[in-house]
Amino acid sequence: GRCVVAVDGPSGSGKSTVSRRLAVHVGARYLDTGAMYRAITWAVLRSGVDLTDTESVAKVASEVDLHIGTDPQGYGVTADGVDVAKEIRGPEVTGAVSAVAAVPAVRELLVARQRQMIANAGRIVVEGRDIGLVVAPDADLKVYLTASAAARAQRRSAEDAADVAATAADLARRDKLDSTRKINPLQQAPDAVVLDTTELGIDEVVARLHELLTE
Ligand code: CDP
Repeated sequence: GRCVVAVDGPSGSGKSTVSRRLAVHVGARYLDTGAMYRAITWAVLRSGVDLTDTESVAKVASEVDLHIGTDPQGYGVTADGVDVAKEIRGPEVTGAVSAVAAVPAVRELLVARQRQMIANAGRIVVEGRDIGLVVAPDADLKVYLTASAAARAQRRSAEDAADVAATAADLARRDKLDSTRKINPLQQAPDAVVLDTTELGIDEVVARLHELLTE
């Protein structure tokens, strides 16, 4: 039957890896909402509009032809027909995504798209920042993953083959931007299960979530 799992948490909390593995494990679809904000950001950067011009940013966002797959073993992302899977992980997009994601009209647009995708999927694991609170408040399971700032920077820099100190600074910058928005996307849903993954391996986290799901 239908089953929606909401996984929220900051960057480097392990939410992507954990969400994908859980989806594969239970035969569910998977939606990476961060990739949607990143793809919109790619289009905004390409358009050349000023990031502080929120009206223009919202206009570009409303005109992008965005497609994202939901196969947890490999999903494609295209914007205006361009495969952006790689570029949305680059430093330009990462540097601009929090500003674009802070524009209310951009959020409205993507939240509506995400709700539609969830409605069309039978079983789906949805990963992001505002899933349990805003996108899918009636999810069957809500999880909030955390980890110490040091652990998050360590993981993220290993993934990106980047410098740990620079990564830690970037995560702190984005956490701050993300948490000072009017609608704080790092806020935890009151009914979310909070899991600190600092000392936990990915397999342990996935096993714990699977347990919670089948309880
Ligand atoms: O894992 P990481 O935080 O590096 O990236 P992500 O999940 O791809 O999200 C990138 C950015 O998109 C976040 O820093 C947020 O600014 C924004 N985002 C959001 O506002 N709401 C979401 N549901 C997902 C991402």
